[in-house]
This record gives sequence, C-alpha cells and structure tokens, in this order.
Amino acid sequence: MSRLLIVSNRLPITVKLDHGEIVVAQSAGGLATGLRGPHERSDSLWLGWPGDVSRLDASQRAQLTRNLADLRAVPIYLTQGEVSRYYEGFSNEVLWPLFHYLTDKVQRDAWKNWKTYAEVNHRFAEMVAEHYRAGDLVWIHDYQLSLVPALLRRRIPAARIAYFLHIPFPSSEVFRILPWRIEILEGMLGADLIGFHTYSYLMHFRRSLHLILGVDAHSEHIHYADRAVRLGVFPMGIDAASFSRLAEEARVTTEVEAIKRECQDRKLLLGVDRLDYTKGLPRRMLIVDRLLEREPSLRGKIRLIQVVVPSRTKVASYELYRRRLDEMVGRINAAHATVGSVPIHYLYRSISEQQLVSLYRAADVMLVTPLRDGMNLVAKEFVASRVDEDGVLILSEFAGAAAELAEALQVNPYDIDRVAWAIKKALAMPEEERRARMQALRRRVLAYDAYQWASSFIGTLQSVYREGAASSEFVSTPEEIERLLEEVRSAENLLSRPNWLLQMLH
Ligand code: UDP
Ligand code: G6P
Repeated sequence: MSRLLIVSNRLPITVKLDHGEIVVAQSAGGLATGLRGPHERSDSLWLGWPGDVSRLDASQRAQLTRNLADLRAVPIYLTQGEVSRYYEGFSNEVLWPLFHYLTDKVQRDAWKNWKTYAEVNHRFAEMVAEHYRAGDLVWIHDYQLSLVPALLRRRIPAARIAYFLHIPFPSSEVFRILPWRIEILEGMLGADLIGFHTYSYLMHFRRSLHLILGVDAHSEHIHYADRAVRLGVFPMGIDAASFSRLAEEARVTTEVEAIKRECQDRKLLLGVDRLDYTKGLPRRMLIVDRLLEREPSLRGKIRLIQVVVPSRTKVASYELYRRRLDEMVGRINAAHATVGSVPIHYLYRSISEQQLVSLYRAADVMLVTPLRDGMNLVAKEFVASRVDEDGVLILSEFAGAAAELAEALQVNPYDIDRVAWAIKKALAMPEEERRARMQALRRRVLAYDAYQWASSFIGTLQSVYREGAASSEFVSTPEEIERLLEEVRSAENLLSRPNWLLQMLH
C-alpha cells in the first residue's frame, strides 16, 4: 500500500541527553508544527534528524530508534562534525541568510562546508531509498535537503518525489551569488512537483531557472533533462480548528483573565518568535522605544510581552544577536520604566501550547515584523486563536503570510516611524473595525488550514501523475493516492489531544 514519506532535516520531536536522561521536546519552528497534524492522521513515515544525540550510547540509541518507530519516525543520526558543517555551517550560515536576503550574515569561512552538505544530502537520500516501497510518495522539505530530490531520483528513477521550500526563494540577483547555484537548482529539479509559499517565490525560482540553467520557465510546467517538472504555489496553513478549540477551553480563559489582571489597565502588545535575525527583533524593540518617545502619555500604559524561543544556539551570529537583543531590551526598559512597570517583558524560552494560545487571546496587538520570512505561522495562529474576533495583527509585508492576510495592518519593518504609528493606530482602532478585519482574517485562516495545504499539494502531485500516466510506469493507482488524500483531509484536532509524543516515548 502507498505511504507518504515525509523527509525533513528535523523530526517533529527533538531529543537530547540531560544529566544522563533522554529528554524529548516538540521541535520549534513552522515546518515541524505545520506538518505534525497531517503526519499524525495519515500513514506517513517521517525521516529526519532527532537532534544532537551524540552523547547517547549504543543501547540508548537503539531504544530511541524503537521508540521513534512507534511514532512512525525514522531517525537519521548526524555526527557532531556533520551538525557543525552541514546544519550550522552550510544550511544556516550560507543558505538561510542568503535566501532571506541577509547577505552580510553569510559566513565567508562557512562556504567550505559545502562538501559535508552534499554528503549529508546523499545520506538522507540513501536512508529514504532504504525505507522506500514501490508506490510510496516522497515529500522532501526545505533548504537543508535541496539536493535530495535529484539524488533520490538517481537511485529510484520511477519514484514519485515532491519538494517544498519553507523559506523564501530569493530574487535571482541574490540567488546567483551562490557558487553552487547550479547544483542546488538541479537538486530541486529531481522532484516531480516543487512547491513554494507565494507566487513571488515561484517567480524568482523561474527566473533563476531561466538565467542559470537556460530552462524555458514561462509556465508552471517545465522540462529539464528529459523530465517534466511541475511548479506550484501552496501557502502553508496551520491546524486552525485546534487553535480555535483550545482558545475556547476554560483553562485558557482562566489564564487569559490572569494575564489581563496582571496587565491592569495596560494594553498588551505581543511578539512570539524563534531567536532569529530574520525576525527583526532589535528593530521591534526600537519601534517600542520610538513609540514611547513620541507618545510619552503611553508610558505605563502599554506592555510588550516578547517570547523568544531559543534557536540554533551554536551558530555564532545567533549568539551575537541574542546579546544585542538583551542589551537593547535592558536599555529601553531602563529609559521608559515607571516605578510600577517596565515596557518590555522578555521571555527567552519555549512556552506550552496553552500559554501560547492564552497570550494570543489576551493580546490587544500582535506584532509580527520579520525582515523576511517564508510564511510566518505565528500570524495565522494568532488569528485562529481569536475566537472573540478581536485583536489587531500588525504584519510585515516581507512575511509570506502578507500575501494572504490583507486585512492585517501591513507594515515595512525597516520603517520604524511608520510601524510605531501603526501600533498607535491599532491601539485606537474602533471595535467595529477590529472585528471586521479579524472576521475576514479568520475566514481565510480557518478555510485554508494545514490539512487543506497538504491535501492540495498531494492533489496537485496526483494530477501530475494523471497527466503523465500514459507515458510512465507509475506503480500505485490514483485510488491509492485518493486514499492518502482522504486521510489528510479528515485529520482533526491536534492541540487538544494529550501530548502524544511524550506519552508514547515514556
Ligand atoms: N512555537 C514553538 N515554541 C514556542 C512558541 C512557538 O514551537 O515556545 C511555534 C509557533 O507556535 C509556530 C512556530 O513555532 O508554530 C514558528 O513558526 P513560524 O512559521 O512563525 O516561524 P519559524 O520559526 O518557522 O521561522
Ligand atoms: C524554519 C525552517 C525549518 C526549521 C525551523 C527551526 O522554520 O524553515 O526548516 O526546522 O526554522 O529551525 P531548526 O534549525 O531548529 O530546525
């Protein structure tokens, strides 16, 4: 029977050894949170890295592999050297900053890590090939694995392979800086279907194909190396129904009341981000600074709760960024504190789903102001959690989500004065307008959720095979793909269920 094989660098849970104990946590980031639901409700097998477990002994690893098998997850273990060169070095110090247009963050000496990047991509392809059964559908994710589609294609020419990029595909003028631009494009082109979050990422990709490989890329159907490849736009959604359901639970309502009580009559601004320089956090702090400078009457009347989730802590630019942010928060708090309050309440840690949804619900204004972001699921989670149809979303025009969420107050995060002005506008917005905007946002976020996203992606893949069926030897039937689709569509409730991962591992 056909299965869906999900392949991503990171598994949806991350494992580490803490004082000799194996500790598991849900992985942070949009890829893991968005795909978790479709994985739970289908027959899929998920292959990926379980985090740095280099200190686990052989028997602990064997135990971990067995426990993960119960979750239909296959660990791909990486050595410390591979983590440092493939994950930190090439993926996160070359591709990540370059694709987010932050070329000054591309590490010069990280370029030597290409070889390990390619080797680890080979290993992923081998592992997928080992688990592959005729008829399976292989869905490869994100920039860490851009070579896997072609490497797998070489091993299994008839395999059905799809690739989705979760981060922006940059302008061809930026992409072509990359010395391995040909290898990366050819790697992705090993897939039958390549998906992007937005139309503009797709256009940039097509332009790069034309410029770098000379491919005729005037439509979404292209031909390369005697194969047809389909391109498409699939904006990723969230498990919106689960967020709404959790937002309505009594335990959340109680927590929302406690947060509001604690804020007294202050308006609550909220930010929730991984600690990443793409998220524009120092600028966000400067925006609050500017707002309080220009509107002294707001002192003691607003509070920003900024949740910062630790991320990629061993990458030097992240550590530096963290120190800059710490200093900035300290300086701004010192400048604008009153005897009773400080303007920025800064939490550097992950929080539970209940806390997250309670904060979403309690906020008057949600600040999502990345300098560049593939999609940004936090913006959608905020909207899904607002069952009261209130709250204002301020959203960077450089987040992929901006293409769908037109009723948010959209801002250019580089324009500090105008964002400060947008916050003032949000705080003064009449209830009727807040409600009208939120209702429109909710309609979209609830309709196009994670399941719809996965099912439309797989559905498009299905149509690719229907179109090509006459000319190729497809192993599995359209009925089987339809069954896979149905499983993903019928998925429900993710957040309100007990923590299935932890339960199963213990
Ligand atoms: N998130 C998390 N841990 C937390 C707080 C939030 O994993 O303590 C989740 C959040 O709910 C969202 C994801 O991290 O689903 C962030 O995804 P987004 O697309 O906004 O940005 P990314 O981190 O993928 O760049
Ligand atoms: C972004 C990337 C994902 C990544 C996530 C968390 O969402 O697109 O591929 O998993 O960030 O980053 P990490 O490096 O911890 O996996």
